[in-house]
Amino acid sequence: MSHSPQSIPAHQATDGTLILGIETSCDETAASIVEWRDGAPRVLSNVVSTQHEIHARYAGVVPELASRAHLERIVPVVREALRSAELAGRHISAVAVGNRPGLIGSLLVGNAAAKAYAWSLGIPVIGIDHIAAHLVAGLLDAPPVGWPALGLVASGGHTHLFRMNDPRSMTLLGRTIDDAIGEAFDKAATLLSLGYPGGPLLDERSSSGDATAMRFPTPRLTGRSVREGSQSSERTLDFSFSGMKTALLYAVRGVPPVANRPAPRPPLPLTEQRVSDLAASFQSAAVNQVMDVLNRAMERLEAQNDRPVTLLVGGGVTANRHLRAQLEMFGTQHGIDVRLPAQKYCVDNAAMIAALAHWRYAAGEHDHLRLAPRSHSLLGRC
Ligand code: KG4
Ligand code: ZN
Repeated sequence: MSHSPQSIPAHQATDGTLILGIETSCDETAASIVEWRDGAPRVLSNVVSTQHEIHARYAGVVPELASRAHLERIVPVVREALRSAELAGRHISAVAVGNRPGLIGSLLVGNAAAKAYAWSLGIPVIGIDHIAAHLVAGLLDAPPVGWPALGLVASGGHTHLFRMNDPRSMTLLGRTIDDAIGEAFDKAATLLSLGYPGGPLLDERSSSGDATAMRFPTPRLTGRSVREGSQSSERTLDFSFSGMKTALLYAVRGVPPVANRPAPRPPLPLTEQRVSDLAASFQSAAVNQVMDVLNRAMERLEAQNDRPVTLLVGGGVTANRHLRAQLEMFGTQHGIDVRLPAQKYCVDNAAMIAALAHWRYAAGEHDHLRLAPRSHSLLGRC
């Protein structure tokens, strides 16, 4: 029997609809069952098999090793998601899969598995943008929110700011012009020999450091924004983290000598306390930059009579304690509903994939079984 999407009946967006989500874009193999209930996504199971132990010795994700590990883990992870939700495949209404952006070999594994499950169960497959999915992580197991919203994704691969009408419709306001914030945290942790993955270790170490010990350069990005057409002296809503990384490199290893200039001072000895101070100063500078862009985005939208009522955030870096505290304060200052995802939904997971698919499913959208993975996002100019 053929199960082309055309033969699948129109969707019913009713309470009790169950979607299986699959996520394999980087180094986490994940599956989750999410139910639509009382106007919001409820997580029935959330299984994440992380590959950190495989990639730690290389201090970064090795794509070929990642796809091989996904291949070994994907079926047991999906089975476990069904088992712990006490469900069988026949109860599921659609299979959602993160099909962009990500490592192409890793995405291929999740996509092939999702299409195989969808075909064999005779249900639709729904391709999901991983960046957009991070934005709904704060809506999992939480009351429905108001729109429009500001949406911030701060992860290992992405730093993007959106204005959102709803989870399916958003415009890009700004993004990083170089490193993603999580990548910067990871590289800073490597420079300070804190280990891998660096973000959480740097967060931990910062608590014993003096955040005012070192001043980092503050990027002032003006002129041509990543957004179409903006070419002025007005500051953009973009981010930049590579200058901070270089400043940290010089603080640790010393400033390289320049011809005809006095010899630079040698760096301070890298004592345990100095490492903590540099970690805290770096974290504080990175978080300040994010808050600065968010404040300017609010000001700009308010001036256009387009005040967002909600701030959605997601991505691994939103697990950072200092950033979370600052975001909460931002909510109080601006009277805006800030949705901080639970820690387990900040990092990559499949519950956010299934959740976003619920909005697409309710709108009658699904994809063809020819759905292909893409290494790039289609959101704005990502
Ligand atoms: O969202 P995610 O799991 O993967 C991507 O889509 O990229 O984010 C992983 C990133 C890594 O760079 C990791 O170091 C960072 O999130 N991260 C943190 C923290 N927890 C994870 N960065 C700062 N503080 C944390 N507590
Ligand atoms: Zn992610």
